[in-house]
Amino acid sequence: MGVSKTFLSILVLYFSLYTITPTSSASVQDQFINCLHKNTHVYFPLENTFFAPAKNVSMYSQVLESTAQNLRYLTKSMPKPGFIFKPVHESHVQASIICSKKLGIHFRIRSGGHDYEGLSYVSEIEKPFVVMDLSKLRQININIKDNSAWVQSGATVGELYYRIAEKSRVHGFPAGLCSSLGVGGHITGGAYGSMMRKYGLGADNVLDAKIVDANGKILDRKAMGEDTFWAIRGGAGGSFGVILAWKIKLVPVPKTVTVFTVTKTLEQDVGNKILSKWQVVADKLVNELFIRVIFNVAANNGSKTVTTSYNSVFLGNKRALMQVMKKSFPELGLTAKDCLEMSWLESIVYISGFSSRTPTTVLLQGKSPFPKNNFKAKSDFVKKPIPELGLKGMFKKLLKEDMPMMIWNPYGGMMAKIPESQIPFPHRKGVIFKIQYVTNWPESDRRTSRHINWIRDLYSYMTPYVSSNPRQAYVNYRDLDLGKNKINASVKQAQSWGASYFKDNFNRLVKVKSKVDPENFFRHEQSIPTLSVRR
Ligand SMILES: Cc1cc2nc3c(=O)[nH]c(=O)nc-3n(C[C@H](O)[C@H](O)[C@H](O)COP(=O)(O)OP(=O)(O)OC[C@H]3O[C@@H](n4cnc5c(N)ncnc54)[C@H](O)[C@@H]3O)c2cc1C
Ligand SMILES: *[C@@H]1O[C@H](CO)[C@@H](O)[C@H](O)[C@H]1NC(C)=O
Ligand SMILES: *[C@@H]1O[C@H](CO)[C@@H](O)[C@H](O)[C@H]1NC(C)=O
Ligand SMILES: *[C@@H]1O[C@H](CO)[C@@H](O)[C@H](O)[C@H]1NC(C)=O
Repeated sequence: MGVSKTFLSILVLYFSLYTITPTSSASVQDQFINCLHKNTHVYFPLENTFFAPAKNVSMYSQVLESTAQNLRYLTKSMPKPGFIFKPVHESHVQASIICSKKLGIHFRIRSGGHDYEGLSYVSEIEKPFVVMDLSKLRQININIKDNSAWVQSGATVGELYYRIAEKSRVHGFPAGLCSSLGVGGHITGGAYGSMMRKYGLGADNVLDAKIVDANGKILDRKAMGEDTFWAIRGGAGGSFGVILAWKIKLVPVPKTVTVFTVTKTLEQDVGNKILSKWQVVADKLVNELFIRVIFNVAANNGSKTVTTSYNSVFLGNKRALMQVMKKSFPELGLTAKDCLEMSWLESIVYISGFSSRTPTTVLLQGKSPFPKNNFKAKSDFVKKPIPELGLKGMFKKLLKEDMPMMIWNPYGGMMAKIPESQIPFPHRKGVIFKIQYVTNWPESDRRTSRHINWIRDLYSYMTPYVSSNPRQAYVNYRDLDLGKNKINASVKQAQSWGASYFKDNFNRLVKVKSKVDPENFFRHEQSIPTLSVRR
């Protein structure tokens, strides 16, 4: 593509040495900046939009690290972007695509930076690369009258929820639980939260979208066509174009919702009676009730135990909740004292993990309540309850790791009603719950492979108890263990992870990709491959 061989090799040399030779570094950026100027009429102040190591290393690192969630992808040995560009106008995104293409620069798109494998700020397969960070495109326009909103990709879900609640106490949106998630990457991968059993995923509630395609054109739903509109609602980020904004459908929420968290140790749940009952009822409870189970390891009288926390949001008041629980899940022993009534917005703060009474304005700060760590995660879908013997072995494994966590997330309700092929997200009828496995370790702990081996071993142990053929996985819990593209991967090479994330929808995603981006301009370690490559 358009750039001379010598120029490219200078570029490669510069970035592979990762030492700063001002002349060559300046030339890459200068060419890019010149090209941007030629392709947009909207001014961008360089000092606020361009971040490069040669310009100011500390500023550059600060911007790179700002929203990056996984410290494992920020270590010294990880490849770093040549520069970071933060568009302040939609036309800058268009110009970035035109110019990257022209200059042969590989770029990654970042909205909220929560990608589990750092794909929005690290490329392990292509050098050099740059990052286009959409954090300055974060406008939110709520239209209560027609139950909709336009939200730009760089906004967080926390901001979105806050802005909705500012306009109305009885409107909400059913997306992620963690308030710092970026709307751009999150919704395009599915986006589940505590209202999924009532209303489905964020991606199930999208009405329209604005994207920039591989030619630098802005397209809305009508202009992109129904195939592409289908693909971007669940087909995950970085394959089809840059999402600029979503038009979402707001959903009704009651004025008062109720939350609770009840924690049991292994010793308090003798014979796994409570956990076993949860596995039977979790997907069959009324759709207004979402009870997930969070597993942690905790100190217990000088030894260790596993705690199971039943963490819940109910779309209704305390009295109604107590009635439901008495009838459907008395084993938990929920009491009125365990329950807190609050607004839907306050329940977001609660379920995000902030301590109670944290003001809701925290949702505007793009912060997570937890410190950043190194982490590795994986996911599974469960279709029949895991027997006690299986649970026993699982607990044994958990007790072997320093900071393990598991989250079991109930399905059923609306999730079971939406057909598998409605959007690319295929995990619907028949799923009782999803498992997320996580292991965290602090920055100072260098035993990376020990922790990764631990989670792989647990995953292997769980094989008989979870979905198979394919073993399903959630694409927003990106897991490169499932497979990694080489540059210009073939469909065959991508089939294994493609089937896990999308089941049969993978084939349709490949068709859409081949049509809208035949040159594979938008690519990363697990981007949807095109049909044109045959190997
Ligand atoms: C702490 C934490 C909590 C989470 N909680 C939930 C949860 O409750 N529910 C849930 O469903 N998921 C959850 N996730 C997973 C989350 O949905 C995904 O990581 C999601 O991809 C994050 O989107 P992002 O914009 O923040 O991330 P990014 O890292 O910015 O992007 C993710 C991917 O999408 C691409 N991308 C980003 N922006 C765009 C764009 N505008 N156009 C096209 N491609 C783009 C990136 O290149 C990357 O490949 C959680 C993740 C973390 C780390
Ligand atoms: C570099 O950036 C830091 C902020 O990270 C700022 O304090 C400092 O003044 C900048 N240095 C220069 C030379 O601009
Ligand atoms: C801790 O051990 C003591 C003595 O064995 C016992 O009395 C107590 O109940 C234990 N506490 C817990 C929380 O198990
Ligand atoms: C990948 O595909 C593009 C477009 O078809 C081509 O220009 C490029 O040379 C390919 N790269 C490799 C490494 O095969």
